Order: sequence, then structure tokens, then C-alpha cells
Amino acid sequence: MNEKEIIKNLEKYNQPRLINILNKVDEKTKKEILEEVSLINLKEIERLYANIKDTVEVDVGELKPVKSINPDKLSKEELDKYENIGIDILKNNKFAVIIMSGGEGTRLGYNGPKGTLKINVEPKPKYLFEIMADSMQRANKKYGITIPWYIMTSNKNNDKIVEFMEEHNYFGYPKDYVGFFKQGELPLITEDGQLVLDENYRIRKAADGNGSVFKSMRERGVLDEMKEKGIEWVYIGQIDNILLKMVDTLLLGVTIKEGSEIGTRSVFKDFPRERMGTLCLKNGNVKVIEYSEIPEDMIEAKNENGEMLFGESNITCNLFSLKAIDKISLKDLPYHKAHKKYSYMDENCKMVEPSDPNAYKFEYFIFDSFEYFNQISVVRGKREEDFAPIKNKEGVQSPETAVKLYNDYWRRHADERM
Ligand code: UTP
Repeated sequence: MNEKEIIKNLEKYNQPRLINILNKVDEKTKKEILEEVSLINLKEIERLYANIKDTVEVDVGELKPVKSINPDKLSKEELDKYENIGIDILKNNKFAVIIMSGGEGTRLGYNGPKGTLKINVEPKPKYLFEIMADSMQRANKKYGITIPWYIMTSNKNNDKIVEFMEEHNYFGYPKDYVGFFKQGELPLITEDGQLVLDENYRIRKAADGNGSVFKSMRERGVLDEMKEKGIEWVYIGQIDNILLKMVDTLLLGVTIKEGSEIGTRSVFKDFPRERMGTLCLKNGNVKVIEYSEIPEDMIEAKNENGEMLFGESNITCNLFSLKAIDKISLKDLPYHKAHKKYSYMDENCKMVEPSDPNAYKFEYFIFDSFEYFNQISVVRGKREEDFAPIKNKEGVQSPETAVKLYNDYWRRHADERM
């Protein structure tokens, strides 16, 4: 597209602020902005803007609880049977791990990618990437294998993460088995549908959510690479859960035995209205919903054992078959919008610091991929064993609470340390 065509397109898609700025900047800056605009799908931006105004869908549909396996209720023989299926996959090099690290970590407010945060665990402080590397190495040693480890980064943090891992010699993980791939990003849009420029005259964009992992795997060649390596199962977890068990042989075994394409570790709600994403079947498909979407008479419903019917909750500890990833990577997951505060350049090329949220960011969520399946295998985990997230600077789900959970865990499992 030439200059005239790009500007015409900006007019067509109603971007007067950008056009005003283009009329005020020097030729070099103008060329750079236009080049960036030419790579943006303005039609898609229009669609995103329409999405801002969408109201929330209130389709209750038919809700059913998911089946789950509680390992505490299994005999030693049953546990072994499942685990051996999982171990077989590991030993035949059919398993890989992805750690998603493309998030902005805004709530934590740490200046750098979350994985490069050092926390005060016992017996010595560790970086989050180091904790992940240690966990993978324990599994490698236990099973006599080397698991391919992929780290999903964003455009913004990729170089910092790669440099950090190089600088720390991959925390002893065999470098040839570590891969990085960037996720996608989407432009921000202001409340009046305008694209936003930052102080360097670049269009402000943000990572497009953890659900970007599937498309990004396809676009960055990771899916093909895994196929070539004979990988059949991929664990996808998040960098900020320091009790993540990515090499989960029980989950692998249960998922394969039940003939599912997706498996997940859940935790059980403490009380019916606890604010957690609830796993259920909605109109026959797997879905994660808020407790507020469960009809009032069902929130407190119990099964024949007196347990909450809708208690299994999502903690983003997910296992996917490569076939499932292949399928999902071709789908358009729905967008979720977040209303946030972003500085922007006004028509006179002056930066404005808003005091209230002024723009929308758009994200795909990994759990929306479940909806393409009518079955999911759920293995019930425990908060103290599986879930120590670091989301906030202080208070709940902060480094302080996660460190306590981590230290307590390792006191109970001292014999499993490397
Ligand atoms: P969160 O959704 O909790 O977001 O990410 P965040 O970026 O860490 O923190 P906030 O919301 O800005 O405070 C859950 C996991 O998904 C990854 C994160 O790195 C984390 O491991 N993630 C999130 C991505 O990889 N990409 C994204 O675009 C968003």
C-alpha cells in the first residue's frame, strides 16, 4: 500500500487523531508511523471496537458438573496404573512443556518480566525461571530423560527473557532443549475507537492474552517442530505459579486412559461463592464460568457424597494433546476486554497521562479453548500442593503468600529435593 492508500484507509476506519498527528510530524516520523499502520488490520480494529460495546451474554444454557478424579480416593494400584501410562509417554520422548511468560504483570508492578523476579524462598532466594528449571530437572533426573522446554514471551519482554536465561546459563537446563517463541499482540483502542501512539510515535500494543499460545505455536513454527520431534502431549502452565507441577504423570495417565484431548488439575472451592473459575459442561461443551453465572438454585447443589456439584475450579494447570493444539490453533477464540489506564499522544503530539482508565486491551484466554471439546479429564489437586500464584505486590497471591506456600511444601517434601 502506498502513503495515500494508507491514509485513505485511516479515514475509512475513522482514525482522525492519527491523521492529525501525521499532518504535524516530520517526513521520517510520518513514514515510520505509516509503515506501522500498514501492518495493522484496521478492519479487525473496527471489529474489536464493536466488541467494546457488546453486553455480556446471559445464556445460562444447560449446565452440568464435570467428572473428576480425586487422587486421595484412589488405591496405590490405581495410582500406579495411571502414573505408568504417563511415565511411558515421558520415556518415549512424547512430552513437552510450555511456560507462558508473555504477560505484563501489571498487578505485581515489578520492573521486568515476572520470571526474572527473585523471591526469598528457603534455603536460598531463587528466580521464578530458576524454580521452573529446577522442577523440570528433577523430573529429567527421575525419569532419565530431557524434556523439551518452551517459553512463550511477548514482543516486549522476549529479548530481556532470552538475555536473562543466557546470563544464568539456563539454570543448568540443557540449552539445546530450551526454545523461545513470541506470542501475538493487539493494538489498544481508546473509548472513542482511536489507535494510540506512545512517546516514541509507535502504536501502543499489548500482548494478546495467554490464549494466544495456540495460534502463536502455529505461526512461530513450534507446532511443526513438535510434530517433527514426535511430541504428543504438551503441558502448558504459567510462570507465576511457583508450585506448578508441569511433569504431572498422574494427569497424563488419567487423560490418556479416559480418552480425553485435554486434562487439567483443579482445586476444589472452599465455599460455593468463592471467586474462582468453575469447570463445567455447558450445553455439552467444557467451559470455565464464574460462580455468578451458575443459576442460584445450583450454586449450593451437592452430589450423592455431599460435595458441591460445581466445585472444581480452574488453576491454569493444563495438558493438551498435540492434536488438540493443532485444532485450536486454527480457531478464533473470543476476545476479552480489559479497561486500563494508558498514556497517549494527543492531536498536538503532547503526551497525556489519564487519571482514569481510558483504553481497552484485548486478550484471548487459554480456557476458552476448552469449548471445542465435550470432555476434559480433571484431576483434583490441592492448593497447598499445586497452587502458589504471584499476582499482586502485597496481600493475597503476592510473593509473600507464595513463598510461605513454597517453603511449607518443601518442608513436607524434603526427601524429593534434588
Ligand atoms: P495473568 O492473566 O495473571 O496476567 O497471566 P499477568 O500478565 O501475569 O499479570 P497482570 O494481569 O498484568 O497483573 C497468567 C499467565 O499467563 C501469562 C502470564 O505470563 C502468566 O504466566 N500471559 C498472560 C501470557 O503469557 N501472555 C499474555 O498476554 C497474558
